[in-house]
Amino acid sequence: MALSFFTKNKKALLARCRDDYATKMRLKYAPYYHAMEAQRGTTVRLDGRDMVMLSSNDYLGLSFHPKVIEAGRAALLKWGTSTTGARISNGSRAFHVELEEKIAAFVGREACHISAAGYISCLSSVASFAQKGDVILADKNIHSCLWDGIRLSMATVERFSHNSPDDLRDVIAATSPDATKMLVIEGVYSMEGHIARLPEITEIAEEHGCFTVLDDAHGFGVLGRQGRGTADHFGLNDKVDVLCGSMSKSLASTGGFVAASREVIEYLRTNSKQTVFSAAISPSQVACAQASLELMQSEPQHLEKLWANTKKYRAMLKSLGLDTWESETPAVPIVLGSKERVYPFWKALLEKGVFTVMSIAPAVPAGKDLIRTAISAMHTDEQLEKIAAAMAYAVKKL
Ligand SMILES: Cc1ncc(COP(=O)(O)O)c(C=O)c1O
Repeated sequence: MALSFFTKNKKALLARCRDDYATKMRLKYAPYYHAMEAQRGTTVRLDGRDMVMLSSNDYLGLSFHPKVIEAGRAALLKWGTSTTGARISNGSRAFHVELEEKIAAFVGREACHISAAGYISCLSSVASFAQKGDVILADKNIHSCLWDGIRLSMATVERFSHNSPDDLRDVIAATSPDATKMLVIEGVYSMEGHIARLPEITEIAEEHGCFTVLDDAHGFGVLGRQGRGTADHFGLNDKVDVLCGSMSKSLASTGGFVAASREVIEYLRTNSKQTVFSAAISPSQVACAQASLELMQSEPQHLEKLWANTKKYRAMLKSLGLDTWESETPAVPIVLGSKERVYPFWKALLEKGVFTVMSIAPAVPAGKDLIRTAISAMHTDEQLEKIAAAMAYAVKKL
């Protein structure tokens, strides 16, 4: 009896995998998971053709910087390939502590904890602190890792309209004044390119005693002094309790960080399951991130070039009449409104040698189906011209 029960469930799950509509569509149209044959900076080779990469998040263009590559190589030789375990079980390494101290100092915090993925850092920035019975106020458009953190925390979640202080005020007013509250927002929203309305939002959070978690994966390296991020951009560092982010974007590595007061970080090290039970970030990835962090401070030209490229790119899209959802940053969506319009647009760009990514509902709100693009400091003028020609061609295909 027990055996047939398990067999039946196994078959049901196999059928679920086989019959999944989204997977069938993905395999039919093949817009994702392309295996590039080569990459050099913002040029990738796909099916033997060189293409401009317009969807990765190498904002400062440091992923091929000789100093970053050399730092990664030296760390591999000195420390080997992997930490092969969690820090709580086989110890931290000096390079973990060194990068944590450097990030903490850079963003004006007492302490920092790094992990092997931005997803882990941002998820645990919510899940480690909020508990059942708490109330989390969440912007409707936050990243999936923050939603996962919310779900794991078992707290009650109240959503407010994207980047709307007015709605936050109304939603928060309806919660119990005695509840322990957390606010969860992003600094720069990754799909929309919007900058959080931090002055108004943090003022409301403060009035209600909210513990504020800011995911600045797309603001770090892009906004603020030398790329210190969104809180620094507004001069509001002291209004954010936990600042988390990714090292896979401006820091040209992989991994994530959480920066906060020392007691908050030590609490996370005790209570975050993602930290306690997951292997530490590898030596070369830490070294690459650290080299990039140093370059953010010693070579301001990358940040300047990023914004110069972003301005040119946005002006070009505007001249073609494309809707960029009022993006204010190098993360620039091209909103086309339905998957029937997004797919041919994406195909046309591909045909003209420009690689982008489609984002369709439910990954974005209904009616906001889009092509997600991101500008890098590494894009050359020649590549921007190629992108402009491809966009003009794709517009004609609509
Ligand atoms: C807002 C935001 N937070 C966190 C992450 C996760 O970072 P990573 O991809 O480095 O794990 C991302 C990445 O897409 C992101 O956009």
